Amino acid sequence: MNVVIAGGHGQIALRLARRLTARGDDALSLIRNPDHADDVRATGARPVVCDLERATVDEVADQLTGADAVVFAAGAGPGSGAARKDTVDRAASVLLADAAERAGVRTFVQVSSMGAGKPPREGTDDVWAAYVKAKGEAEDDLRARDLDWIVLRPGILTNDEGTGRVTLGEPEVGRAEVTRDDVAAVIVALLHASGVERRTLELVNGDTPIEAAIASL
Ligand SMILES: NC(=O)c1ccc[n+]([C@@H]2O[C@H](COP(=O)([O-])OP(=O)(O)OC[C@H]3O[C@@H](n4cnc5c(N)ncnc54)[C@H](OP(=O)(O)O)[C@@H]3O)[C@@H](O)[C@H]2O)c1
Repeated sequence: MNVVIAGGHGQIALRLARRLTARGDDALSLIRNPDHADDVRATGARPVVCDLERATVDEVADQLTGADAVVFAAGAGPGSGAARKDTVDRAASVLLADAAERAGVRTFVQVSSMGAGKPPREGTDDVWAAYVKAKGEAEDDLRARDLDWIVLRPGILTNDEGTGRVTLGEPEVGRAEVTRDDVAAVIVALLHASGVERRTLELVNGDTPIEAAIASL
């Protein structure tokens, strides 16, 4: 399978690239900082510099041509302000989906977040409110498209070693932690599964082996 990963130097993205290339898939990682290219190459993926806050639809579509699937794993990240939640977490996903449609790539996995689209509780800080709004709007945009989309909402991400065991299901599964390693493993399994498209799935660590969790969807 040929997979394009947007936000290719992200912590989930690097784990995903490593897993894909290890099983014989081809990964092309879109990064915004050329200094990150060697880290991406070390995963076995091919880095391409593509800043999703500056690129045009055609430029992104050129990178997607011939791919079997696209994964949106970018995010403005902690420490960024409300404006970049909109330009990355929402607009970059919309741009990637536009490019996927233009390039004829049907499978689109969006890494979203639990809480996406929910009205923030009173007293929530502006940046968190902007984040869940941006993620919610990116999800809505994707769900309205004629693509084989999957919205994947992890719980609280950790860098612990993967367990291979998860709880995966339609909202709401309940907020809890999930390792980035297990998120990457679930994305690989979803990409290679059939009949899992057009779903919004929440993901935390749990008791069910990943393949069984996907088989039971
Ligand atoms: N933290 C949590 O508990 C949590 C929970 C659920 C979901 N999530 C979401 O899960 C997703 C992935 O998480 P993660 O930990 O892997 O994220 P991460 O390590 O912060 O990676 C995000 C990547 O997006 C890239 N990016 C930012 N702006 C870009 C642009 N304009 N063009 C191209 N790439 C750009 C970043 O590049 P640079 O390195 O150049 O900045 C970074 O490599 C994020 O969307 C995050 O919001 C997080």
